Amino acid sequence: KGKSTLSITVVGASGDLAKKKIFPALFALYYEGCLPQDFSVFGYARTKLTHEELRVMISSTLTCRIDQKENCVDKMDQFLKRCFYHSGQYNSEDDFAELNIKLKEKEAGKLSNRLYYLSIPPNIFVDVVRCASLKASSVNGWTRVIVEKPFGRDSESSGELTRCLKQYLTEEQIFRIDHYLGKELVENLSVLRFSNLVFEPLWSRNYIRNVQLIFSEDFGTEGRGGYFDQYGIIRDIMQNHLLQILALFAMETPVSLDAEDIRSEKVKVLRSMKPLLLEDVIVGQYKGHSKGGKAYPGYTDDPTVPKRSLTPTFAAAAMFINNARWDGVPFLMKAGKALHTRGAEIRVQFRHVPGNLYRKNFATDLDKATNELVIRVQPDEGIYLRVNNKVPGLGMRLDRSDLNLLYRSRYPREIPDAYERLLLDAIEGERRLFIRSDELNAAWDLFTPALKELEEKKIEPELYPYGSRGPVGAHYLASKYNVRWGDLEET
Ligand code: BG6
Repeated sequence: KGKSTLSITVVGASGDLAKKKIFPALFALYYEGCLPQDFSVFGYARTKLTHEELRVMISSTLTCRIDQKENCVDKMDQFLKRCFYHSGQYNSEDDFAELNIKLKEKEAGKLSNRLYYLSIPPNIFVDVVRCASLKASSVNGWTRVIVEKPFGRDSESSGELTRCLKQYLTEEQIFRIDHYLGKELVENLSVLRFSNLVFEPLWSRNYIRNVQLIFSEDFGTEGRGGYFDQYGIIRDIMQNHLLQILALFAMETPVSLDAEDIRSEKVKVLRSMKPLLLEDVIVGQYKGHSKGGKAYPGYTDDPTVPKRSLTPTFAAAAMFINNARWDGVPFLMKAGKALHTRGAEIRVQFRHVPGNLYRKNFATDLDKATNELVIRVQPDEGIYLRVNNKVPGLGMRLDRSDLNLLYRSRYPREIPDAYERLLLDAIEGERRLFIRSDELNAAWDLFTPALKELEEKKIEPELYPYGSRGPVGAHYLASKYNVRWGDLEET
């Protein structure tokens, strides 16, 4: 280990993602002793900056965890001394050749591994990959590239992007990030299913009535309107984050925990799914709203968004998996910006108890008395199982309660950010949490026809006020399949 070096180059170093997520995650890994002894971090962007200016920029976003206060400031200094900057154009082989010289200086003839993190807009992915692979690849170690979505905007453009990347990189070198896969509760999904006897036997159409995948943010696209308007919420959240969770949720038991075994099972789920139909999706867009004397802007009030934009900031969809395990079970997705609350969760609603002996003893209607398993991805990470219980006392009244595993109480240690796990995995060559190209294709094939139709038919999104619960259309869609949305705030 001592003889190899690792260089991590963050391309697009002055961007938001780099500042907010990547540098802090690298520091956290350094603090935890997870980075190799001999490493350096390079920021690469067009802006002219000195090493010192980069360090000042990064240092403003580094934080210490509550339980790591001790010597944190010293560690920060040591980390920052390993950070360097190189300014260059994204399509200049010469500029990457210069980067190569600087990397070599730091590597001092040792075995060198190089990781590139592309934190840049998609239209320059291929240029950067070309220049980096031709001029700044490692000659004696590995070279890996982490890419962030968007990976195209439909099946064709995504296929084209993959083909272009593969001119310069092998599939093994490409690490496509879906940061939801790095979230603690998403990682735990397989543990919950496959290491507990009590869940797996229920995990099918025989016992599960519907599954809900819900994403909600209580802020709009402020500042990101330019990017967002090209994509919309279906491409931004559903086609990747929610669909990935769905695949992990619904897959068969993998042969092993190896990356290829898990990813093959996920692809099988995606390929067994019916492409989304236009009649099974509803779209919404937030409009301005004033509340408590404060005015909240509508989506199209953003100067970077076209005034008549039809881009959805909210969508709800019903999807189905045509296999023996899940035939007929609706998987309902809901994702929205500028809603009343922030959260992400998976809700599993179980069927009714057949011939329920206690039907007369429920305070609420029987429909609400089914068991429900809630996996709360964020915030307030936790797992709840809704059960019916006798209210203590002389009578026989039943009540719904939660068996509740609240992470905050059970595991007081702060949960690492998703990017920490993913960066560490990429460094270690663990591909389990990254998206393989056949997975990506299958994911796009499910959404591309409906996305095309929405756009060709210029379907108007239903407007909803900023800070509300979203369009009522979502309820009609759910009730078409006899489903009632679970409420993020109820738990
Ligand atoms: C990103 C989306 O992938 O995920 C953003 O592009 C969204 O629009 C973000 O805000 C949400 O991530 P998290 O980790 O904050 O839930």
